[in-house]
Amino acid sequence: MFSVKKTIFLRTFGCQMNVRDSEIVCGLLTNAGFNIADNDKDADVIIFNTCSVRKHAEDRIWSLIGSYKGKKIIGLIGCMAQNYKEKAFERDPGIRFVVGPQDIEKIPSIIERLFKNQIVSPPELALREIEVEKMGSGPKARGQSPLLERKIWETDSNIRPEEIYHTGFYHNKNHAYVVISEGCSNFCSYCVVPYVRGPLRHRKKEKIIEEIRAALDKGINKITLLGQNVNAYQDGDVNFPKLLELINGLDGLKGFDFFTSHPKDASADLFKSIRDLDKLSKALHLPLQSGSDRILKLMKRGYTGKDYLDLIDSYRKIVTGGSLSSDVIVGFPSETESEFKDTYEMVKKARFNAAYIFKYSPRPKTEAAGIPETITREEKEGRHKKLLELQRKISNEKN
Ligand code: 5AD
Ligand code: SF4
Repeated sequence: MFSVKKTIFLRTFGCQMNVRDSEIVCGLLTNAGFNIADNDKDADVIIFNTCSVRKHAEDRIWSLIGSYKGKKIIGLIGCMAQNYKEKAFERDPGIRFVVGPQDIEKIPSIIERLFKNQIVSPPELALREIEVEKMGSGPKARGQSPLLERKIWETDSNIRPEEIYHTGFYHNKNHAYVVISEGCSNFCSYCVVPYVRGPLRHRKKEKIIEEIRAALDKGINKITLLGQNVNAYQDGDVNFPKLLELINGLDGLKGFDFFTSHPKDASADLFKSIRDLDKLSKALHLPLQSGSDRILKLMKRGYTGKDYLDLIDSYRKIVTGGSLSSDVIVGFPSETESEFKDTYEMVKKARFNAAYIFKYSPRPKTEAAGIPETITREEKEGRHKKLLELQRKISNEKN
């Protein structure tokens, strides 16, 4: 393809879904003839696979990208790419291409195009591009045309081709992430995911099994199934517990787990699968988000505090000794001190083995971003600290 193979370095931020997407991109790039570097020094191109779930995550990534100051070719992919689209070029002029999560299969051809510097798009590649005056190119002589730099962005697709899951590229020799569903249609009022990852789509069970079998053939024997809400999985008459049963029966598989569950779709059937399937990890991650019924309603979570407690009670009765972890957000807009106490008491009762405690962060396009923030930064930080301390104490006692 090129006389000298170009080298790419990928930096990944955020959740396991991004870790898997980065492997997919590495696989696609390798198959297209690129080298993958494990550091930025040797790289011609640095790709940032990014997270938009909280503003703090985005700020960190912007500042890292800024630190390259045009010294490298920078690509922005993942959730921030979808969130900012071509506006990312204004935010940081060092960025040369922007590719959303539903367009990742185009990354190798986009990079090829940047290097070849072709002016006309080949017909099979209807890429969206602009040419902008190159920054810092110095004063131009009168009559001389400005130095133009090509910028490419692709953020319009809403489906991923199935083939991208079958490149066979894995970072880990013993463990593989396997996506079972993409996107999310729950629209929890604080969450940017449905806007950047699109609506919920399920992969075909045959394709999931085929991907796992290929990983097992490579000697991998542990699997993590991924989806924003795995419990909602459905392909024909195969629901999530049925899929777990199919996977449990695969020869060569030693252990597997899954991530993430939504309380509104978790049921006793799922807990029985966790109890009965010998290869499935006895662990459940079940985000609570809040212990206040009013806040849960504002969050559009679809359950009450009591529903949640009943659910984990059922889990613990069915899966004796099973571990339980959760996510909690403090400082949701309009959360009162007494509503925070409801969350605090709930965390005390639930006795999670582990819980991630987040400070609410307003996200563009989301419903909650329209609710005025009444809580001061100090209050939010105070609540965060109190809940962290409580959970730390519980985790120490339990583990
Ligand atoms: N602010 C703070 N935390 C958030 N999460 C999702 N969106 C936000 C937000 N806007 C948390 C939720 C979710 C986890 C992955 O991130 O707790 O379960
Ligand atoms: Fe976001 Fe809610 Fe979907 Fe989870 S279930 S990704 S919190 S919208």
